[in-house]
Amino acid sequence: MTLNNLKIGIIGLGYVGLPLAVEFSKYYSTIGFDLNQQRIQQLKAGEDKTCEVSADDLKQAQYLDYSHDLKDLAECNFYIIAVPTPLDKHKNPDLTLLEKASATVGKLLSPNNYVVYESTVYPGATEEICLPILERESQLKFNQDFFVGYSPERINPGDKDHRLIDIVKVRN
Ligand SMILES: NC(=O)c1ccc[n+]([C@@H]2O[C@H](COP(=O)([O-])OP(=O)(O)OC[C@H]3O[C@@H](n4cnc5c(N)ncnc54)[C@H](O)[C@@H]3O)[C@@H](O)[C@H]2O)c1
Repeated sequence: MTLNNLKIGIIGLGYVGLPLAVEFSKYYSTIGFDLNQQRIQQLKAGEDKTCEVSADDLKQAQYLDYSHDLKDLAECNFYIIAVPTPLDKHKNPDLTLLEKASATVGKLLSPNNYVVYESTVYPGATEEICLPILERESQLKFNQDFFVGYSPERINPGDKDHRLIDIVKVRN
C-alpha cells in the first residue's frame, strides 16, 4: 500500500469521526461508516447534528462517501476506529462498542492494511483488548501482515479556536 492507493475507512461518525473523515477526504479517498442509518442519511443530506462540521464544509467534502454498508468498508486499506468508549455505572470503561468495531474491521482486514484507534482508552487496551480481536477475526499476524496505531483524539467539541487541524499530535 502506498499513499497513492490509500483508501481510508473511518468507523463511527460522531464528534470525533466526522471531522476526521472530512479532513482526510481532502487528500485521500475516504469512506465514513456508521451503524446508525439515520446519521448516514443526515450526513448525505448535508446536515451534521453535532455541529462540529459546518454545512459549507460538508458540501465541500465531495470525495467523502458515507455508508452503513460493510461492503463499502471492505474496499478500504486503512481503518480508523472512532466509536464511543463510555464509562459504565461503576465508572469502569465500557469497551463493548470498541470490541465490536474491532471485530468488524478484523473480518475485513487484508495483508498490509493498517488500523488506527482514535477512541479514548486506557494504556494497554489497544494491545491487550483490540489486537487479539483483530488477529482472531482476520487470521493475520500483527506487525507482520497488518499494522496498528493509537492516536487518541484531542478535540474539544464546540471549541472553534482549537479544531482538529489546529491540534498538533506529533511534532518533528
Ligand atoms: N466527543 C469528545 O469530546 C471527545 C474528545 C476526545 C476523544 N473522544 C473519544 O472519541 C471516541 C468517540 O467519541 P465521540 O464523541 O465521537 O462519540 P459519538 O457518540 O459522538 O459518536 C460515535 C459514533 O459511532 C457510531 N458507532 C458506534 N458503534 C459503531 C460501530 N461498531 N460501527 C460503526 N459505527 C459505530 C455511533 O452510531 C455514533 O454515530 C470516544 O472514545 C471518546 O471518548 C471524544
